[in-house]
Amino acid sequence: EKGGYEHFMAKEIHEQPKVIKDTMTSRIIKNEKIRLDDITITKEQIKNIDKIYIVACGTAYHAGLIGKNAIEKLARIPVEVEVASEFRYRDPIINEKTLMIVVSQSGETADTLAALREAKRQNARVIAVTNVVGSSISREADDVLYTWAGPEIAVASTKAYVTQLIAMYIIALFFAENKGTLSNEEIEAIKEEMLLLPEKAEKLLQNEEDIKAFAEENHMHKDMFFLGRGLDYAVAMEGSLKLKEISYIHSEAYAAGELKHGPIALIEDGTVVIALATQESLFEKMVSNIKEVKTRGANVLAFAMEGHTEIEKTVDTAKYIPRTIELLAPVLSVIPLQLLSYYTSIAKGCDVDKPRNLAKSVTVE
Ligand code: M6R
Repeated sequence: EKGGYEHFMAKEIHEQPKVIKDTMTSRIIKNEKIRLDDITITKEQIKNIDKIYIVACGTAYHAGLIGKNAIEKLARIPVEVEVASEFRYRDPIINEKTLMIVVSQSGETADTLAALREAKRQNARVIAVTNVVGSSISREADDVLYTWAGPEIAVASTKAYVTQLIAMYIIALFFAENKGTLSNEEIEAIKEEMLLLPEKAEKLLQNEEDIKAFAEENHMHKDMFFLGRGLDYAVAMEGSLKLKEISYIHSEAYAAGELKHGPIALIEDGTVVIALATQESLFEKMVSNIKEVKTRGANVLAFAMEGHTEIEKTVDTAKYIPRTIELLAPVLSVIPLQLLSYYTSIAKGCDVDKPRNLAKSVTVE
């Protein structure tokens, strides 16, 4: 049942090239409009949306952060992303021009379901992005976009996350098409890059040994920091959550530019910093932030896009992800972070698939 792997998490990490592909199949086709056959929202309704809330918990919330960026950039609709347990209790402004997108692997998360109900009560339309056909969230939403990740057994979400990212890009492109905010050429260029993601993810999975070695060398640390800017910051949050969940190492994700406003006080000789520098437009700024922690003695493992070898001058260990457009980089950069938490967990002798105190689906509010 684990397909030859030692843990479900390893199996699920390795299924990512396939599930990325499955989630795009029949929806993204070259030179054709985005096909979302089951989505009933009309062009008119899309044009009328004046605000989108993306509401979710945990890893699904982190996918929502990428969704905000994609939708705002491509379709020019303002998006707020919020954790469901906060959204519900703050009397959010919702009306018939509001669209809510809920993201939930299980489709059963109690807070997310309650947020969906609140939005519907106030006449907002709800699109659910979920992995489970027939789940409560899929039944109650107006529209459902299924992620085709297949059953995810490990408590730590991996393959569901990358398919949620793909779903976010698809929604952003679909809205952009309907609103006319991008030219056909721009849309085709993004689709083309998306279609290349499965093979690039596969390539990344062939380089596990380096990450494993880093995990084995560093699993005794008590803290780790994840830094990034823009989309890399959202991926840093996901990497940090994964590490906490399954290796019980305290870690924090910070927007790299925010470091000097406080947290840099925590950096000392040997502190492990995982720096994400895949966003080309923010690369130089990120390198300056890395220098700030290096000066304080940090041990930096950095991820950049292939070709940016100049980063090696600044960091202790540099790793590369295959080149893609920066919007799509999270689909690739998250993979080494998943592997890092996986191998750290193993090095520490933790229960990878069933970490303490956690359940796969959180059905209490
Ligand atoms: O089933 P859901 O996507 O609604 O679950 C949300 C979170 O509980 C979930 O992502 C949790 O954070 C995972 N354990 C993360 O790995």
